[in-house]
Amino acid sequence: MELLDTLNWRYATKAMNGKSVPEEKVNKIIEAARLAPTSSGLQPFEIIVVKNKEIKEKIKAVGWNQSVITDCSHLLVFAAWDTYTEERINKMFDLTNEIRGFKNEGWENYRQMLLNSYPQKDAEVNYNHAAKQAYIAFGLAIAAAAFEKVDATPMEGFDPDAVDKILELKEKGLRSAILLPLGYRDEANDWLSSLEKVRKSTKDLVTVID
Ligand SMILES: Cc1cc2nc3c(=O)[nH]c(=O)nc-3n(C[C@H](O)[C@H](O)[C@H](O)COP(=O)(O)O)c2cc1C
Repeated sequence: MELLDTLNWRYATKAMNGKSVPEEKVNKIIEAARLAPTSSGLQPFEIIVVKNKEIKEKIKAVGWNQSVITDCSHLLVFAAWDTYTEERINKMFDLTNEIRGFKNEGWENYRQMLLNSYPQKDAEVNYNHAAKQAYIAFGLAIAAAAFEKVDATPMEGFDPDAVDKILELKEKGLRSAILLPLGYRDEANDWLSSLEKVRKSTKDLVTVID
């Protein structure tokens, strides 16, 4: 299936049928998120996979009661770093050196540049930057889910502070940014499943400068 056919097939599923997505498919969707490009390669987010029914119920209660939160089999929570710290930056730069097996002066200078700027910034500014990186991974996860013929609902309709409390994210220096329930569409009960996809025209989206 062509990528564009896949993207046309997917939609923000409003009703799921409770059928479980095989772990193998979930792993591939998560792997796509892990492979996402991020600013300076810092990958400033984590993904929490909620399968537990009680926890999903608690999240649904603070997630506008959206039924897919409990009718999905896996609820992915993309949680961004609450700020950039020296430790977090060093960990990713050290990992690069370890995996590539050498140190590079340019790369080390770049590390110092980040160390001299990111940790000093306001935590809210840093969180917003980190959350943007999480959204890139989120986009790839949505496309990967569609590729695996798994339905997904991109979801910002929830109270992030309440979800952070339920999942004890603050203690880990994380903040929930966006949710992605994974499951299978319940076509008969989903008002959106048969409606036309709506997108603005390419003309309104793109400006070409020759
Ligand atoms: C960041 C983001 C947040 C969204 N939040 C919700 C949500 O909370 N609930 C929901 O049903 N759909 C949500 N959507 C789905 C959008 O409404 C949907 O993607 C858009 O209307 C385009 O339709 P399509 O995804 O079906 O093609 C969200 C989408 C994005 C990208």
